[in-house]
Formats: sequence, C-alpha cells, structure tokens
Amino acid sequence: MNTKEDFFKEIENSVSEDTFVRLTLSKNADRSATLKKVLIKLALIKKQLQFSFVFRHETNDVTKNFSIKNGLEEIEKLLGDEFWIANLFTTQHDFVFEKNKKGKLKFRKSKPTFSQIPERQHDKPKSDFLQKNNPTEGRATYLQELGILDANDRIQKGKGDKYKQIKKFIEIVSDLLKKNPHVLESKNDEPLRIVDMGSGKGYLTFALYDYLVNTMNLNVKITGVEIRENLIEICNNIATNSNFDNLHFEQGFIEGYELPETDILIALHACDTATDDAIAKGIKANAQLIICAPCCHKQIRKQIKNDSAFEAVLNYGILKERQAEIITDTIRALILEANDYATKVFEFISIENTGKNVMIVGQQRKSEQPRDVTMYLQKVEELKKQFGIEEHYLEKIV
Ligand SMILES: C[S@@+](CC[C@H](N)C(=O)[O-])C[C@H]1O[C@@H](n2cnc3c(N)ncnc32)[C@H](O)[C@@H]1O
Repeated sequence: MNTKEDFFKEIENSVSEDTFVRLTLSKNADRSATLKKVLIKLALIKKQLQFSFVFRHETNDVTKNFSIKNGLEEIEKLLGDEFWIANLFTTQHDFVFEKNKKGKLKFRKSKPTFSQIPERQHDKPKSDFLQKNNPTEGRATYLQELGILDANDRIQKGKGDKYKQIKKFIEIVSDLLKKNPHVLESKNDEPLRIVDMGSGKGYLTFALYDYLVNTMNLNVKITGVEIRENLIEICNNIATNSNFDNLHFEQGFIEGYELPETDILIALHACDTATDDAIAKGIKANAQLIICAPCCHKQIRKQIKNDSAFEAVLNYGILKERQAEIITDTIRALILEANDYATKVFEFISIENTGKNVMIVGQQRKSEQPRDVTMYLQKVEELKKQFGIEEHYLEKIV
C-alpha cells in the first residue's frame, strides 16, 4: 500500500465488510483554519447506514450526516489535500496515512486497536418516554416538528433546557398518577380528560399525550387552550401528522373558556392572573389534579405597600418582586387547600434551566369527612393584612 488511492480503498473495504470502527482526519494544511479535526463514524440513521461527520472547530462542533456514497466523496476531498494525517481504525488493522510538508506520503499498517465494531445505533436523546417503546411511525416527529430534536433525534442547540423541562414534567405527572390511583381507577373505559390552559407551542402537551398514550397505554383526551391563533394551527397540524387523534388545540382565552368536567387541569407559565383563571376553572370543573407553574406575578406586586411590616425588604425592587411571587403563590396554595385540594409547592426544575421553576400542585382530597377550611382563609386574610393587599384575584373568581 503506497498511495492515497490504496488508503482510500481500505476505507471502502472496511465499510463494505463492516469492519470500520472510525476515521479521524487531522493536521489541517491551513494552520490558521478554525477547522482542526474531522471525526467520522458509521451510524444507523432512520434505519440506513450513514457516515456521521463531526467537524471539530476551535470553539464548536458541527455534525453532518452523509450517505455512504457522499461520505466517501467527502473523505476523498479532505484526505491529503485539506488534512495531512488520517487514522483509520478497523477491526482488522489500524492504518495511518500521512503527508509531510514536502508532499511526501507515508503509510503505516499495524495491529488493530479494536476487535469489535462499535454500536451503530445513532445516539438517541436520553429520555425514558422516548426510549422505552420502539418508536412507532410518526412517534417522535412532534419533537422534531417543534424544533426540539433535529432530524437525527438529537437535541437541537439551545433546546436542552426545554427538553429537560419536558422530561421533568412527564416524571411529575407520572408520579402524581401513581400517588393518586383513583384518578385512573375512576375512568373505566372513559378517556382521561386533560386540559392544558395556555398551551403555547405545545411542547409539554404533545409530550404528555405521547407518554400517556404510547407508554402508559391510556385512553386520553387532551385539549390545549391558547390565545394565539397561529399556534393553534401549527399544533393541530403537528397532532394530525403524529396521528395523535385525541389531542386538539382550541383558540380561546382561559378566562372565557367553558371548561366541562375535567380530570386534570394544567397551566404552565400562563401569564400573571391567567394562572388564577386556570386554577378557578379547574376547581369548578372538579379536576382531581391541578398542576400549574406560575409565570409573572404583577397583580399582587402592584398592591403590596412599602409601609408594611416588611418595609426594609420591600424597598429593594428585586426583593419586592420576589416577595410578590411568594405571597401570590402562597395565597393560591391556601385557596386550593380551602377548596379541598392537598397542595404542594416545589421547584420542579433547576433554576439554571428556567427562572419560572415553581410548581403548585393541588390533589383533590377524597375524604368524605367535611373539613374546617376557615383556617386557610384566615391565613389568606392575615397575609393580605400584613402586606396591605386588598384582594388576590383568585379570591374573587373562585
Ligand atoms: C409562556 S407561554 C407557556 C406555554 C406552555 N404552557 C409552556 O409552558 O411551554 C404562555 C402561553 O399562554 C398563553 N396565554 C397567556 N394568557 C392567556 C390567556 N388568558 N388565555 C389563553 N392563553 C393565554 C400565551 O399566549 C402563551 O402562549
């Protein structure tokens, strides 16, 4: 073996004989170029064997996939001209192709470092609910169509936090259903009715439907309610493309939406008092679970008086804002308790992923015993008095 063609032939053979482990191209002829290395492996992408190239630049990686034919053409272009060193690993031999400054070519063939070919399955995002079942036709497309995953099912740049949120949200709902078995037991053959208020782009709504239907095998009907008409159209199209027959999005305001009896009410990051509207609708619709993650908290902030017992705190803008959030959500939790919901308030995801990370979950109490709820309402009154608040919006609509 003494020419570039011979080396290239070894690459072709290793692919056709399925002994290819990996190929690395390094030592860029142009030392000032940002592209420093190319790492090449074989991967099964959409059931087809393809070359996966990672172009390693000084500060970032760019991944591109090529068919075998196009990948070989790409390697041929890069080898020897742009990159002066190539290391080919196969299960039969290791090969080194090298070109020096004078244009002299060197080849080495040695014992193989690897005795087995690597897993060809393409890297999948680490997600229980995506990985557990074999993907059925159209299964993951919603995450691609929503721009969370790329065509190879990898998380898109900048979407990692959203992906974590989706995963965490699914874990929370799954856990709530385990802790509240009556929610499913009460359904018999009827669908579990879920309404997502302020569904936005529907990331969480789609993932929840996918999880409940395709992983938990439940009969589920989910409705997303959202003001923005363009999002309704987009989401309904994606639902159709994904064969999610019982997932629909409707255009409407939360406050004006006529909510029929519902099992689970969700409102994640619905703005300001839209969260209160959703909670009130959920209580009236006899929802067994109310899951919300509040967003901005303007209504109470405007009412808090700086001459209260907390004057020193409230003089600092950011602390007043935080205090407003705490009071708003505490009163929401107390009102839920007063309406017979055992309520939890917790951080549902790390603050690094989103600042809007407080979740309020109300689980309808099943006890037949009448309970004294005046204690909760008294606490609401005390809080309001301390901070000079006239009224929490949720009080007047619930
Ligand atoms: C921050 S996004 C959150 C979307 C989604 N729930 C999530 O967590 O990914 C809030 C969404 O609620 C919608 N929204 C806000 N107020 C609303 C209202 N009163 N009625 C219906 N939708 C509302 C907004 O248009 C927006 O799409």
